[in-house]
Amino acid sequence: MWGDSMANQAKLEIVGGRPLQGTITVSAAKNAALPLLAAALLTEEEVVFDNLPRIKDVEAMLEVIQQVGGTIRELEDGRWAISGRNLDASREVPNELVRKIRASNLLLGPLLARCGMAHLSMPGGCSIGSRQMDQHIKGFRALGCQDIAISGGYIKAHGPLPLQGTVIHLDVASVGATENIMMAATLAAGTTVIRNAAKEPEIVDLQNLLNKMGARIRGAGTDVIKIEGVKKLKGTSHSIIPDRIEAGTHLVAGVITNGQLTVKNIIPEHVEAVTAKLMEMGVKLEIGDDYITVFPHDWQLKAVDIRTQPYPGFPTDMQAQFMALLTLVPGISLITENIFEARFNQVPELNRLGANIKTENGTAFIKGVAKLTGAEVSATDLRAAAALALAGLAAEGKTIVENIQHLERGYEAFVEKYCQVGAQMRRITGS
Ligand code: EPZ
Repeated sequence: MWGDSMANQAKLEIVGGRPLQGTITVSAAKNAALPLLAAALLTEEEVVFDNLPRIKDVEAMLEVIQQVGGTIRELEDGRWAISGRNLDASREVPNELVRKIRASNLLLGPLLARCGMAHLSMPGGCSIGSRQMDQHIKGFRALGCQDIAISGGYIKAHGPLPLQGTVIHLDVASVGATENIMMAATLAAGTTVIRNAAKEPEIVDLQNLLNKMGARIRGAGTDVIKIEGVKKLKGTSHSIIPDRIEAGTHLVAGVITNGQLTVKNIIPEHVEAVTAKLMEMGVKLEIGDDYITVFPHDWQLKAVDIRTQPYPGFPTDMQAQFMALLTLVPGISLITENIFEARFNQVPELNRLGANIKTENGTAFIKGVAKLTGAEVSATDLRAAAALALAGLAAEGKTIVENIQHLERGYEAFVEKYCQVGAQMRRITGS
């Protein structure tokens, strides 16, 4: 759909040591686009998105949506129209397609709300952790889906139409479970209350879209969300919020290259945990209404400790990028990963570039070194890929990052954007 510029086996070649200079513009948020695309299936009318990010995860989600009868149309000006007019939950979705995109589990809510049934392959774990689904299932059961089970690698659910509004207290403030239950409850009879809900900005964007479609939801962004069920939802058009994780990645790129970089199309409030940590390290920032500029620091930076937390705490999706930066900051920094149990895959690869990182029981101990030196490294997941690319931008000499298809899952035009601000970076394919 969007060019296969980074086919499997694609690699990134980076010649490091050049301070980035200029402006990078952030695309729409992957982690908002995915649930919002699922939400479009809650109506028979068309929902038009005017800034869908052209990334692999969105492409895969659109494929899964077509498999369950959703219609997708690209309009002449690059906008996309999605509708659930022919939604059909009995259609079989190929296992390998669902496993390609974990977020396909966000179709469960809309399918149960519209069709009273869902039959999807379990997305399974990924390289960053076991990725449970028990909170999603708990929510659907509470809404009336007594017949819900995982068997043969599939999640099979049947429920009443409409579902029944109720109070659901989540044991974990799961982003995905909050989104799935919100979508399922929009067409339920009566009111649903989600307690201990996740508070991420992407959930607020989902509420805003659903309310424009005629839903009655309030409280997104807090840990209590109320959804008054309605009979029907309608079409609308929507602009997706900027990607706060892409924004954070670019800010770290500016700092790790000791450059002067302006990152545009940002909602500063969404990246406060990131900017607060950079300022704690001693980085000078200029924060505008929709942009943030980082300034050179000549490595007069100090070591810091980071603990990943649900929003508004420090995002787990920025952990690897900060680890790459802290490898070059004098002193000992600690990073404790509290959200995913296996999210230190970048550690051995950063150590190949000359970093000094040890891990123990979910904490990484990073001893700052004077420099990194280019080498061949391999990416295992989306954010680890970003961290290795940033380390390559700072390292002396040439770095080759393998398995770069991970990056294309979540970053639009990554190479193009960095070359525009002075990076020496290119894609290379083949063995
Ligand atoms: C979303 O994943 C994001 N993905 C992730 O971004 C992000 O890391 C994560 O939230 C946390 O912020 C999308 O939005 C598409 P969770 P999600 O359910 O919804 C446990 C990236 O790099 N849990 O909040 O899958 C789970 O095991 C990706 O862009 C349960 O125990 O995350 C994990 O430890 C990676 N039971 C924790 O909660 C459940 O039913 C957080 O998971 C659900 C989750």
